[in-house]
Amino acid sequence: MRILIPFYLLFLSLLSIALRPQKSKAESIAAGQEIYQDFCVQCHLSNGEGVSGVFPPLKASDYLFEDINRSIKGIKYGLKGEITVNDENYDGVMVSQGLDNEEIADVMNYILNQWGNQSEEFITPQQVAEVSKSTLN
Ligand code: HEC
Repeated sequence: MRILIPFYLLFLSLLSIALRPQKSKAESIAAGQEIYQDFCVQCHLSNGEGVSGVFPPLKASDYLFEDINRSIKGIKYGLKGEITVNDENYDGVMVSQGLDNEEIADVMNYILNQWGNQSEEFITPQQVAEVSKSTLN
């Protein structure tokens, strides 16, 4: 009997991981705000407007809303080369910030719903996990 206890405990801890409730959208946005302050604000600024010609805006960014998975990919793996955001060209480098899938989902939910941005989408860690290096740009 005694030998079963460790297995029972292991089972319980796996069960609690599997049943861990997913964050609500509001909770994800709140967590994303902190991540933004720690990892993004120095370039994209607290008003989300970036620096014209150097750091592209996230506020009202056509690039961001055109293809959300493309932006997830950029945050996950880094982004460099020429892009056009709101008719302005950028040719900079954003290195991967080393965030995990959940952190990327949270910061995406934040930037998609901040500064007047609005999105019906609710980005989940699973969606981030499915974005790979080969996701189309
Ligand atoms: C060191 C500066 C820097 C940091 C830190 C940074 N970025 Fe960027 N970001 C850039 C640059 C530069 C580009 C454009 C890259 C290019 O020209 O290809 C960019 C592009 C983007 C884009 C796509 C273009 C747009 O404006 O819609 C998104 C979305 C984005 N960043 C989100 C984030 C998020 C979220 C974080 C924090 C997790 C972050 N960035 C951190 C510099 C930065």
